[in-house]
Amino acid sequence: MTHAELHQRSLEDPETFWAEAAGAIDWDRRWDRVLDDSGAPFYRWFPGGRLNTCHNALDRHVDGGRADQVALIHDSPVTGTIRRWTYRELRDEVARLAGVLVARGVTKGDRVIVYMPMVPEAAMAMLACARIGAIHSVVFGGFAAAELAKRIDDAKPKMILSASCGIEPGRIVEYKPLLDAAIEAAEHPPESTLILAREQCEAVLIEDRDYDWASEVADAEPADCVPVEATDPLYILYTSGTTGQPKGIVRDHGGHAVALAWSMPNIYDTHPGEVFWAASDVGWVVGHSYIVYAPLLIGATTVLFEGKPVGTPDAGTFWRVIERHAVSTLFTAPTAFRAIRKEDPEGRFIEQSDLSSLRALFLAGERCDPETLHWAEDRLGVPVIDHWWQTETGWPVAANCLGLERLPVKAGSPTRAVPGYDVRVLDSDGNEQPDGEIGAIVIKLPLPPGCLPTLWQADDRYRSAYLERYPGYYLTGDAGIKDDDGYLWIMSRIDDVINVAGHRLSTGEMEEALAGHPAVAECAVFGVRDALKGELPLGLVVLKDGVDCDAETLRAELIARVRESIGPVAAFKLVAAVDRLPKTRSGKILRGTMKSIADGREWTMPATIDDPAILDEVQAALLHLGYAVEEPE
Ligand code: COA
Ligand code: AMP
Repeated sequence: MTHAELHQRSLEDPETFWAEAAGAIDWDRRWDRVLDDSGAPFYRWFPGGRLNTCHNALDRHVDGGRADQVALIHDSPVTGTIRRWTYRELRDEVARLAGVLVARGVTKGDRVIVYMPMVPEAAMAMLACARIGAIHSVVFGGFAAAELAKRIDDAKPKMILSASCGIEPGRIVEYKPLLDAAIEAAEHPPESTLILAREQCEAVLIEDRDYDWASEVADAEPADCVPVEATDPLYILYTSGTTGQPKGIVRDHGGHAVALAWSMPNIYDTHPGEVFWAASDVGWVVGHSYIVYAPLLIGATTVLFEGKPVGTPDAGTFWRVIERHAVSTLFTAPTAFRAIRKEDPEGRFIEQSDLSSLRALFLAGERCDPETLHWAEDRLGVPVIDHWWQTETGWPVAANCLGLERLPVKAGSPTRAVPGYDVRVLDSDGNEQPDGEIGAIVIKLPLPPGCLPTLWQADDRYRSAYLERYPGYYLTGDAGIKDDDGYLWIMSRIDDVINVAGHRLSTGEMEEALAGHPAVAECAVFGVRDALKGELPLGLVVLKDGVDCDAETLRAELIARVRESIGPVAAFKLVAAVDRLPKTRSGKILRGTMKSIADGREWTMPATIDDPAILDEVQAALLHLGYAVEEPE
């Protein structure tokens, strides 16, 4: 069946389509209905069904003939180690870790925060939670203590799993002091923590609160899989929204397992026994779906890579990993390829490795510029697939589904909507845009299985953030175009989310951090174009009347503030003071206009601007930072 035919079938009769897909999963009890729409606009997939995600990811493969197949490979150039676990070994390790959680009082429905670097124990922690029906919430290691504290207070975890340190090129990131500070700041501290001691750094444990991972696991009774409702939450993953309060994206068990298992053969053309490598981080949705769950759900081998595309130790790392483990499918962010291309434009490292196992490269997380796409195609000689999705959906919304049919590639487009997704482009009145016209990209409800059913304990926020703007549709937050071949073109965000090196960040949150500086009266942060990271945040601040401070000291303090409140991952380094910010007559700061000026794009003077002269001053400040141009493109 072609992509178009299957897509149509999935929308005409979603219940039959997804019931068939659900056959790939082991159920303890069959569902009563495939889709419950009685609470629309809230939908539930497979209500009445019972299953266990960890059983589906591990135990059933052990019992079904894959016990001795490698399930997980940890390849860590930053520590110089490579370790492998078979399905049996991983199942046993996860069962013991689950036993530790049970012994510490964690039961079904309890939340467990996982704040860990890219070590295999992070994946084990997620699977151990799934095994006993606890809800994990992984927090990316590049976030600061204050961000972790926000997530602790929202998720109210019974326990936190962490490690003594992470390893970034050139520095050891001590996790324990960050964890201690976050717990200190939180109003809902966990009862206990489990800390993985890494040899690179020792963590000081607090008696009767912090426990040592290795000794606890060594003494633990393995725990069995606990069947849960298909509609029970498997995890919460916080993502940036428009405010400083991150959104707790909820993923349920049943829909998630079904959608991910469907995506592997159909989108990624990856099958049991093959090696799949998502070069991302377990702290992001790509890591949840395609490092941990999807490859294991289908009985493939997954690679968990602790390193960077460049600098660990060089731009050849990726190719060596592919050769070493016979990787068939690689998934990463375009930024990783831009970084490699910058260091190795001729692809000399690529020539030094045997990449014959590689069948396809998938890119997502940010816009893929055509130059990067073509460079990768030329150097690798395999299909390079740009595909589009977000934390909320959990799996691709638009893609060239290699397992169905290989559609022609149009560089700059993530191809067509994937079966299950009814993607539309609407104008501001909610009418569908003609082909080729830009508008808000929305998905007609219901969303397919695997997408968020709601936000963690925040149904109202889910409704107001995603469903109210266009009733009957889910608002993706992206603007773009559908062309006359049905290809989607993702152009920009309609909110203040920016994408820095494939990491999703909120400029609103950075503004909150800057506004907390005693000298700052008001500020604006917006994303500016960056050749490597896609976008970088840039801040302009207006100082309070009468404040007189040294510009360099102020700059350093503002940068440190964002780093301390959000984390190094914000990559906030561009900031300048201006006398005034450009605003509309009603007082709205013109961030979009400033961004256009910074990017050197054509821009028009907003009709509603209060004082056009302010833009000259802004342009001068941007030029000083190395942005904007005298003559726009
Ligand atoms: N723990 C602690 N700090 C972290 C971290 C972590 N897990 N991850 C990143 N950081 C820090 C980095 O050390 C860096 O700090 P610095 O300002 O002191 O140098 C900062 O956060 C920014 O990190 P990063 O975005 O990784 O930038 P970089 O300059 O170190 O590397 C790339 C640039 C392009 C190589 C890197 O961004 C990359 O590999 N991107 C791929 C993106 C990706 O996998 N996205 C996931 C979606 S698929
Ligand atoms: P995240 O939730 O971190 O995965 O970020 C999702 C956002 O990243 C999307 O809403 C888009 O803005 C952007 N994004 C992801 N993939 C792509 C892509 N292939 N092309 C353009 N933008 C993308």
